[in-house]
Amino acid sequence: MSRELPYSDAQLEALGLARDRLARHIAIIMDGNGRWAQQRGMPRIEGHRRGVNSVRAVVEECSRLGLEQLTLYCFSSENWKRPKLELSLLMSLLRRYLVEERKRINEQGLRFRVIGRTDELDPAIQKEIRITEESAAENDGMMLCLAVNYGSRMEITDAVRAIAEKVQQGEIHPDEISEQTVASHLMTSGMPDPDLLIRTANQLRISNYLLWQISYSEIWITDCFWPDFREEQLHQALKDFAARDRRFGGLNPSSDQAASNSS
Ligand code: IPE
Ligand code: IPE
Ligand code: MG
Repeated sequence: MSRELPYSDAQLEALGLARDRLARHIAIIMDGNGRWAQQRGMPRIEGHRRGVNSVRAVVEECSRLGLEQLTLYCFSSENWKRPKLELSLLMSLLRRYLVEERKRINEQGLRFRVIGRTDELDPAIQKEIRITEESAAENDGMMLCLAVNYGSRMEITDAVRAIAEKVQQGEIHPDEISEQTVASHLMTSGMPDPDLLIRTANQLRISNYLLWQISYSEIWITDCFWPDFREEQLHQALKDFAARDRRFGGLNPSSDQAASNSS
């Protein structure tokens, strides 16, 4: 398989999408694997296994759409509360994904990064993460970011600690701490904030995901379980996103009030 070409404007239009209304960065809470399996009388892990097919399809489609970044919530710092067997199967799936997808990641020219406390993962997984990150280091395509053993409160707490240490060392003065200082001490330093946050399986919560970064993300929730999520649902999310009126606290430039303000 060679690198797939990004969609042309005409192809985007045929999908009901327009380049200038696309999200730059999509973050996804991939949820509902367990329920998908339970509904079919299968063990939960079967849902996780099928979920990998959705990951593959969505990564490739986001790359074709020309997204700058896709960030997938793979395992939260709270997911350690799950039964031991589910944890070990989840970890072996992650390891397999890293080994098996490395080639496709490079064929598609994707950049690759993992955010989260990777040092707490099995050394064999840490090694596969390192190899994948290194093998993709020269790529210039979409950034595929996996959140593994990731928790937003822990990330913010670590950032506060790192900034406090710099203050103590006299490297920065408290008055100089800006939003940019905080952002640059998060694991997502250098990455754009998500424009669109998708959560599958109809849960109306954030579950400790990218709390700082999603301040102004548009949220799209579907009842589709993650193993059933494909290009079709992604396109729907992007179509809905394109119709949203993003104001960032201001007014829509085309609104009457905005027009009268600026005249
Ligand atoms: C999401 O699916 C995957 C992970 C959290 C690892 P779940 O396992 O949470 O599926 P449900 O929510 O129990 O259906
Ligand atoms: C969030 O899903 C974490 C991932 C998708 C990896 P959960 O299934 O763990 O979230 P809660 O527990 O329902 O909030
Ligand atoms: Mg869940």
